[in-house]
Amino acid sequence: MKQSDIRNFSIIAHIDHGKSTLADRLIETTGALTKREMAPQVLDSMDLERERGITIKAQAVRLDYQSQGHLYELNLIDTPGHVDFTYEVSRALQACEGALLVIDAAQGVEAQTLANLYLALEHDLTVIPVINKIDLPNADPDRVREELIEIGLDGTEAILVSAKQGIGIAEALDAIVERIAPPRGDSQGPLRALIFDSRFDSYKGVLVYIRVVDGALKVGDRVRFMANGAEFDVTEIGVFRPHPVAVSELQTGEVGFFAAAIKTVQDTRVGDTVTLAANPAKESLPGYRPAQPMVFSGLYPVDTNEYGRLREALEKLQLNDAALTFEPETSAALGFGFRAGFLGLLHLDVIQERLEREYNISLITTAPNVVYQVQLVNGEQIRVDNPALMPVAGDIVEIQEPVVTASIITPSDYIGAVMELAQERRGVYKDLSYIDSQRAMLTYQLPLAEIMYDFFDQLKSRTRGYASFDYQWSGYVPADLVRLDILINGEVVDAFSIIVHRDKAYHRGRALVEKLRDLIPRQLFEVPLQASIGGRVIARETVRAMRKDVLAKCYGGDISRKRKLLEKQKEGKKRMKSVGSVDIPQEAFMAILRVE
Ligand code: GTP
Repeated sequence: MKQSDIRNFSIIAHIDHGKSTLADRLIETTGALTKREMAPQVLDSMDLERERGITIKAQAVRLDYQSQGHLYELNLIDTPGHVDFTYEVSRALQACEGALLVIDAAQGVEAQTLANLYLALEHDLTVIPVINKIDLPNADPDRVREELIEIGLDGTEAILVSAKQGIGIAEALDAIVERIAPPRGDSQGPLRALIFDSRFDSYKGVLVYIRVVDGALKVGDRVRFMANGAEFDVTEIGVFRPHPVAVSELQTGEVGFFAAAIKTVQDTRVGDTVTLAANPAKESLPGYRPAQPMVFSGLYPVDTNEYGRLREALEKLQLNDAALTFEPETSAALGFGFRAGFLGLLHLDVIQERLEREYNISLITTAPNVVYQVQLVNGEQIRVDNPALMPVAGDIVEIQEPVVTASIITPSDYIGAVMELAQERRGVYKDLSYIDSQRAMLTYQLPLAEIMYDFFDQLKSRTRGYASFDYQWSGYVPADLVRLDILINGEVVDAFSIIVHRDKAYHRGRALVEKLRDLIPRQLFEVPLQASIGGRVIARETVRAMRKDVLAKCYGGDISRKRKLLEKQKEGKKRMKSVGSVDIPQEAFMAILRVE
């Protein structure tokens, strides 16, 4: 295809504003799929994704579009919709010249609308505003146009669409052809292709999703990954329509995938540049950075015999997930397991669920934590990704924790409530501005540890669901943090240790032992629970002794009912871990997060 007839674009939107529905409609309208073939949201291929309704892995679909008798090749590059995957989004956008910015006609501009818009502008993309859901009775496109002007876009250029009813789709496609520039790039130069995604296929090895920036790629070429120098022979090249279709080459400006018998996605880092071994490019494309896990958690098999299987499962998942890291870890309380690193809590959730569902492994996961940078008295600087390994206070000069810059858009009436929440979470106020007469955007610096778990839920409940939220990593800052230990039966349970702000430590310790008292089942003996900081006990509770006789309810003789109850008790035990001589249920490990 002639370079001038190619358009590469993506769709960006706040969650639920209709990105996937619009993508479906574009695919259907350009004839890539017949109506009968359309499963809703064809772009989200993993089951889990469909269930959660979140696009996790970017994909690219090639569409043929005829406009006034002229044939264009449109490449729709899908971006993940969750903040855990911001880096992937930025790489997908780098592969495009333009973006459709979808805004819900009833909801208007939201936090992710803005975050995505800024990302698109950072990449110099042409942004086409699309006001979607105009069929809704409470749609107010005029108000949305005004909001668009307020955020620096030309509201009059917005296209009115109902993705659901198929209104305005041709206009959107025409706008893509007319407003978005064709790819630039040197077709005669040495190959430079941007990797914006990759996926493991058990027959072909890794499929590497690329956008050719300069030069061309053919089957049989020997390619080199510029970040690590690894070389492979290209066995197959293809494009998604949206089913994969083989092609012989990808030319300058085109988007597709190749296979080269690559065994793991670790070799194919998103953001890296592919070139030809025979005629390598001098410089790689800008912006590559290795995926950086932000959240860590201990993963332990409930049944210690499953350690090997857990390792195998993690290795398999890693084939397809360059951002997942893990290394063996031993816990005095939980035995052998792994400390695994994730991009964020959603990523952790997905991996945990896949381990349990696809690999059938019962897991104990410890409360997730962030990574701390610690300056030691002896001059060393270390990274601590496991609270139990935080050195004692006397050895520490300073602890730094990761912080984010958070933007919160809220109706003006709730500004006070949002500020209060941010304050409780140790937020540092940065800015307040107005999107329109009724809505404001607050900017705060917040510790990642404070927003990791329930910040979003709290924000929603305190603003009656009206606020939206987005954040970006913004570095490390010093904080007055301490390690809080929990002792059960006089012994420190390493898996329960957490890092907390000194001002909250006492309250947290108290709340934790109270919560544990309720969660830990009574044993044959009395079990003291203590919270301590630096060896000093700050709170104490006791689980009183008693044997819970499950058969007590069954006076009378029905043996099958007795058996059922015993079975149930066994089932309940499955998720317990014996620490010393005390059985601790999985909920207890997660409770660490939930107490306030
Ligand atoms: P995520 O993938 O979760 O980020 O959401 P999304 O932005 O892809 O939104 P999606 O396409 O899943 O649509 C969200 C909801 O809005 C779904 O229930 C759609 O059926 C609905 N929806 C999408 N477009 C329209 C529209 O034009 N009109 C109406 N009434 N509903 C729509």
